[in-house]
Amino acid sequence: MSNQQNEAKKVAARRVIQEFVRNGMKLGLGSGTTSHFFVRELGKHVADGMKLTCTTTSRSTIEVAREVGIAITDPNEIGEIDLTIDGPDEIDRQFNMIKGGGACLLWEKIVAHASRRMICICDESKIVDCLGQFPLPVEVVQFAWKQTERQVKRIISEHGIHNISVVRRMRDDKPVVTDSGNYILDCHCGAVIANPAPLETELNRIPGVVENGLFTREAAGMVVGCFDGSSYLRT
Ligand code: 5RP
Repeated sequence: MSNQQNEAKKVAARRVIQEFVRNGMKLGLGSGTTSHFFVRELGKHVADGMKLTCTTTSRSTIEVAREVGIAITDPNEIGEIDLTIDGPDEIDRQFNMIKGGGACLLWEKIVAHASRRMICICDESKIVDCLGQFPLPVEVVQFAWKQTERQVKRIISEHGIHNISVVRRMRDDKPVVTDSGNYILDCHCGAVIANPAPLETELNRIPGVVENGLFTREAAGMVVGCFDGSSYLRT
């Protein structure tokens, strides 16, 4: 990842705090490098006396939050969250997203739905005309995962997306296991997911699928950091 891209992520992280985060809020803290920049930035405000109640979308974000002195509340105890800030792997101009590059999509979707509002933060490279260049992650239970994989392929091809390849995500020659103990199937679709909302719903109807990385109803806006150091907001 280039330094320029990291700087753009930091710009977005600072802008989202300025625009949306207020003293006394209940916040959902997202996952991934952009969200972690945001959490580190938020830590400075908390050190300066800002009062927040926070929960997270992954174990990795819990660690970052603790490092910077942000206390984490159990998601079962926090009640309705005012605002969740999280990053996409891809986002289109209607705020449809692919998420799950960091394998946290299930907790991310649960926390987004527990929130009155979700705002996305990203650098400008994440914005696309059509979703699907980034492989779509589908979280599946370990039992009979190859059967689930066949059904996932069938549903995606029924959406007119042919030539897909589906691979179980691996790291260091071992299958990636999510924070909830499941596998991730990465579906390489090409940049052709024309109707993400019905595909999201249909994938989740397959027994064995726990959740998929299409987020079509969650984000109310995005804060984008640009490579020239500027930022903009769309709601
Ligand atoms: C994790 C995610 C991340 O939010 C997404 O991958 C964005 O990550 P980054 O900010 O590092 O580009 O969905 O499951």
